[in-house]
Amino acid sequence: RARGPLAGRHVLVTSGPTHEPIDPVRYIANRSSGKQGHAIAAAAAAAGARVTLVSGPVAIADPPGVAVVRAESAREMLAAVEAALPADVAIFAAAVADWRAAEAKPSKLKKDGTTPAPLALALNPDILATIARRPREPGSGRPALVVGFAAETDDVVENARAKLARKGCDLVVANDVSAAGGGVMGGDFNAVHLVSPEGVETWARAAKDEVARRLVAHLASRLAASSQE
Ligand code: C5P
Repeated sequence: RARGPLAGRHVLVTSGPTHEPIDPVRYIANRSSGKQGHAIAAAAAAAGARVTLVSGPVAIADPPGVAVVRAESAREMLAAVEAALPADVAIFAAAVADWRAAEAKPSKLKKDGTTPAPLALALNPDILATIARRPREPGSGRPALVVGFAAETDDVVENARAKLARKGCDLVVANDVSAAGGGVMGGDFNAVHLVSPEGVETWARAAKDEVARRLVAHLASRLAASSQE
């Protein structure tokens, strides 16, 4: 039987990039490594939670003690998240592609040297907003705590506040992914601000594993406080 501050809880984490197919050999993607999301999943498992990690295509190992569900595109990731609910806490750390090819072609696109690139884009579903906007009532499938990430290059805290309101989540973990922010994307360190309706907490730059442990401890105490209300 699991012990720890998250014993008896189900924690859902999304992590990594998504790949949006253009044709059988090409896709749209981004530079997310999955390191921060995978570290959070590992830390939640170490804190005693049952953890489902919905992972986009990554080159890193599955964390120990975690059920991993693979998803390729944003739409597959949303379906995997919906299938994994209910959960007590959902942490959306994946760098989901905002856009996909409007139509994934069944055979390889050819260039003919004259026509413009035949690529129309369509907006992907916002997985975080879809789940966070469910009504806060038992049975709705909205986790008690919904956490989003905000990777920003400018006005990090301001943008995170706007995201909190727009997406309906309980907490936004904001990080500076500009070069000046220390090479967060793909790197092993992160410097974050925790932005919630209660205010902003700024944490010193630390290894992604350490950020993950602190975040999990923070969420466990918020969850314990809300269960006592
Ligand atoms: O709007 P933006 O992409 O900056 O928001 C980032 C947050 O929203 C992250 O928590 C990310 O996992 C989530 N997100 C999502 N689905 C999308 C886009 C973003 O879950 N299509």
